[in-house]
Amino acid sequence: MTQPTDIRRVRGRWPRLLDLFCCQGGAAKGYADAGFDVTGVDNRPQPNYPFTFVQADGLEYCAAYGHTFDLVHGSWPCERYAVVTRWRGNPDDHPDLIGPGRQVMQATGRPWVMENVPETATARLLRPDYILCGSQFGLRVRRHRVFQTSWGGGGELLPPCWHPRGRNKLMSFEHKDERAYANAMGCTWMTSLEARKAVPPAYTQWIATQFLALEGRAAA
Ligand SMILES: C[S@@+](CC[C@H](N)C(=O)[O-])C[C@H]1O[C@@H](n2cnc3c(N)ncnc32)[C@H](O)[C@@H]1O
Repeated sequence: MTQPTDIRRVRGRWPRLLDLFCCQGGAAKGYADAGFDVTGVDNRPQPNYPFTFVQADGLEYCAAYGHTFDLVHGSWPCERYAVVTRWRGNPDDHPDLIGPGRQVMQATGRPWVMENVPETATARLLRPDYILCGSQFGLRVRRHRVFQTSWGGGGELLPPCWHPRGRNKLMSFEHKDERAYANAMGCTWMTSLEARKAVPPAYTQWIATQFLALEGRAAA
């Protein structure tokens, strides 16, 4: 059960976002653009992460410090669930972090966001409160991502996704140009190869503004 954020408590400072499994900060950038002070956690060094970074296990860090943030975001690794992993190897080689992840996020008592590939919604592991695509934001990428939130979605006004074949959309495997895919994603500080795992910042900026509007403190 999450607690409503005390708006008075954050007046005079930016709301704080914990970005679990942050990689190089695609999701983080969107929250920062919406006005969050972002701290990222990843178990591998991320020298290009553009905000405060802590190298640690995501579950352990969330359990210890998650309650000190205003909003907790978790991009749990998708290898166990993604169809593409089945082409490359055995999904069972990758840990199932969604169940333990949800538990540890709920235990913080703070509002939270879980992001993952659409296969997690098909398998009913994530409730698809929001399903976002690059085409809804004018991005040249077809990249569906599912978001489950502690507030359950709602309030959204977005056009449907629209990406017919041959309409100049870039796919993540078309990263021969070192920057083209990253730039199309809005991840201009990454290479195209690095951007393959990233969440386009436009998605999380939109999720963040949904959260701030529902909390009654949209940026003035
Ligand atoms: C899909 S990427 C995250 C993408 C990121 N949210 C973005 O938008 O750029 C998943 C990340 O989880 C990290 N990771 C995997 N297991 C972890 C763990 N136990 N604790 C912390 N990070 C972990 C990986 O190193 C990888 O960078």
